[in-house]
Amino acid sequence: MRSQGWFGRTGKDGFIYRAWMKNQGIPDEEFRGKPVIGICNTWSELTPCNGHFRELAESVKKGVIAAGGFPVEFPVMSLGETLIKPTAMLYRNLASMDVEESIRANPIDGVVLLCGCDKTTPSLVMGACSVNIPTIVVSGGPMLTGRYEGKSIGTSDIWRFNDAVRNGDMSQEQLTVAEACMCRSQGHCAVMGTASTMACMVESLGLTLPTNAAIPAADSRRKVLAQYSGQRIVDMVKEDLKPSDILTRSAFENAIKVNAAIGGSTNFVIHLLAIAGRIGVDLTLDDFHQYSEKIPLLVNLQPSGKYFMEDFYYAGGLPVVMRALNETLHNNCITANGKTVAENYSAAVSYNDDVISELIKPFKTETGLAVVSGNLCENGAVIKPSAASPHLMQHTGRAVVFESIEDYHARVDDPLLDIDENSVMVLKNVGPIGYPGMPEVGNMAIPKKLLEEGVVDMLRISDGRMSGTGFGTVVLHVSPEAAKGGVLAVVQDGDMISLDVENRKLELLVSEEEIAKRISLWKPTHVEVNRGYVQIYQQHVQQAHLGADMDFLKGGSGSKVTRDSH
Ligand code: FES
Repeated sequence: MRSQGWFGRTGKDGFIYRAWMKNQGIPDEEFRGKPVIGICNTWSELTPCNGHFRELAESVKKGVIAAGGFPVEFPVMSLGETLIKPTAMLYRNLASMDVEESIRANPIDGVVLLCGCDKTTPSLVMGACSVNIPTIVVSGGPMLTGRYEGKSIGTSDIWRFNDAVRNGDMSQEQLTVAEACMCRSQGHCAVMGTASTMACMVESLGLTLPTNAAIPAADSRRKVLAQYSGQRIVDMVKEDLKPSDILTRSAFENAIKVNAAIGGSTNFVIHLLAIAGRIGVDLTLDDFHQYSEKIPLLVNLQPSGKYFMEDFYYAGGLPVVMRALNETLHNNCITANGKTVAENYSAAVSYNDDVISELIKPFKTETGLAVVSGNLCENGAVIKPSAASPHLMQHTGRAVVFESIEDYHARVDDPLLDIDENSVMVLKNVGPIGYPGMPEVGNMAIPKKLLEEGVVDMLRISDGRMSGTGFGTVVLHVSPEAAKGGVLAVVQDGDMISLDVENRKLELLVSEEEIAKRISLWKPTHVEVNRGYVQIYQQHVQQAHLGADMDFLKGGSGSKVTRDSH
């Protein structure tokens, strides 16, 4: 085991490696050949969704000790979606570097990743893949369903509350009461937002024990799962079962199909592409279309439906979805518990067909994800049909362009803004380089004057992302982004834009000559940062269709420490 390269040594080096660890009260036998299990913890009081992770880590430790391992907990950069400015996505790649280097640099034989809030899952998985030692993921679990004025609420209601306050249907006092009603327990967002999508992603990839995705954070069974995961990682080390054994091309295809069936966040695309890049699986945007296309929406959860993660768990959770998709999945994929997908999910039972439907009678026939392309997005863009308006799936309208998010905020509620319900709202410079960091602003709020007329949805297009809790007819991740000087950069007010989701098309209806002329005159308007991490990020981040990872982080460097001097 690699940990014996530290703890198994004699002489001065072994003395140093063990002696300082012993100041924590660790007996000598812990160092004599036991698998050392790192518990990579994203606990932080600034990441409220992961605020219970110290307790969860204790459960993991119990499992590791019970199985004969030696647990060591370590912190890594934690990304709290709600507080971090300018956007947590700016730091996903930085956090993944922290994870990668922390694992490789230390005497660890296997690692348990404690993930919860949106970016904490992809950043930890990306980092671990680049090292490729035995790895198991434990998600923190969703919050209990919120209750406000007798109704169930979750994060997706924020957008509705915001519109209600803007058009006078809700007071500021009511909004303050709703805050406490929504987040009433530990855990991450309780709808099928990005955190829940990520928890489903790691389970469908096979990186967790079955049922990991949906157990509420406050449910005692979450701790049981954490303990069993601690137990299991010790055996994974003995079996040398690594991420590269689990994360095959087939496992990625399974995850894409499952994501379509659950109506997962569009952020799934960007994170899965980045993970595939780290583990060396050749995945493209077209794969998302190919493997999502025929999968209808089975799960009736907000934002595409009405229920919450708690209901999803009581209905049987992800194993039921995977059993329902059985015939379309690669059932022989190996998973973290050493069993195949089929072995894990064949006995799953649905306890509520209204929450998780069957393939023959799906909740919605629209798939959870579609990829479009055309002259406006040469390298593709994504839309979530299950959370969009059917009447806008094929739509042609006049562009109303916002050159930046600041421009949007300054003008969107101007009564003189020339816009109607058929217009297409276009937002530029919110991509990976342009913002920088690709924030979740793509689901721009509808102009106030249209809201007052009862307009609830419009076609919106940007190079940014959308919160997994968001909804509406929103085309996201346009690549190349405006800051790269693609066609998006030269869209002007009054241009006609056509979206046809069925035929996968997004077109700017302007002649090629005119587009070429505009591009020849185009100059970037985004701010270029000239120091620190953000400078490196802007210089090296790849476009959305490649997962927005840094070009120099693709692949991995393995687990070997090449220099060793004491
Ligand atoms: Fe953390 Fe939604 S803010 S999961």
